[in-house]
Amino acid sequence: MLKKIGSKMFKPELWESNKPNTPLVRALMEEYKDKFNWRADGRDSLMDVGCAGGGHTMEFVLPILPKNFDRLIGIDNSSEMIAYAHKTYSRPNIEFKTFDIVEGDTKKLPQVDHIVSLYVFHLLSDHEKAVTNMFDVLKPGGDCFLAHLRYFGLYTAYELISRDPKWSKYITDVNDVIIPSYFSKCPESDLEQLLKKCGFKSVEVSSREASFEVGDFNVLKDLIKTVASLYKGIPLAQHDDFTNDLTHHAIDAFNSFSYNKHSTTSKVFFPGATLVAYSKK
Ligand SMILES: C[S@@+](CC[C@H](N)C(=O)[O-])C[C@H]1O[C@@H](n2cnc3c(N)ncnc32)[C@H](O)[C@@H]1O
Repeated sequence: MLKKIGSKMFKPELWESNKPNTPLVRALMEEYKDKFNWRADGRDSLMDVGCAGGGHTMEFVLPILPKNFDRLIGIDNSSEMIAYAHKTYSRPNIEFKTFDIVEGDTKKLPQVDHIVSLYVFHLLSDHEKAVTNMFDVLKPGGDCFLAHLRYFGLYTAYELISRDPKWSKYITDVNDVIIPSYFSKCPESDLEQLLKKCGFKSVEVSSREASFEVGDFNVLKDLIKTVASLYKGIPLAQHDDFTNDLTHHAIDAFNSFSYNKHSTTSKVFFPGATLVAYSKK
């Protein structure tokens, strides 16, 4: 059982306008779209677990479905994210539902042919429960595609700030926030074992290094503000100060602030790596 705390994300407008994982999601969906076990009749149903405000669901998941697909369901434990997705993207066969993949009762979800979950696992408190719940939701023969952070520069910044005397009194354990694969020597085999333990077959796990372009200093600050778990233990009155300091730690840690003299934009690049798993029920 993981010690990590679970986390929702807030502020759908901030996330949806700054998603740093867009190039990776685009490339992964393109790479895997033909691998899914699509139905012969094209009446597929797919659940996007941790869909946030639905932007990636619509831009990259919807297009891989057959034209006459039956149902696309986005779930997220953040009611703010789901309200945004519902208002912006709902249609008769595209729906969004508030549901926690760790804590929720899967009997309340429909069974689907496919599950996709993009950059969500680093926020979950209990990976085994989440994978078991995904397995339950899949129809027999269904398949599951997971992609999530194995490593992310922001975690290094969080480790640094946890040692800063100004903040160390509030941060009791970095493991509450940082995904275990960040510390693991064999994260691919950890994930493969977990998927197999929960009943999945034909498990294929791989890993790719890729930096994330986060935008300028203010965009990075906005991104940090969307992740509730980073603020665990930090008094509310000091949230703005903490956001500022964490952003500075992140920039300093990677010397990742590059200024383009020919434009007014500054860009922050973070080293990162993604774990990818495709498996069948
Ligand atoms: C980094 S965002 C990625 C969103 C989306 N998949 C994308 O690529 O844009 C992760 C999302 O997972 C959601 N999430 C976190 N824990 C969850 C849980 N236990 N159950 C369902 N969703 C969860 C967060 O609220 C957030 O919207």
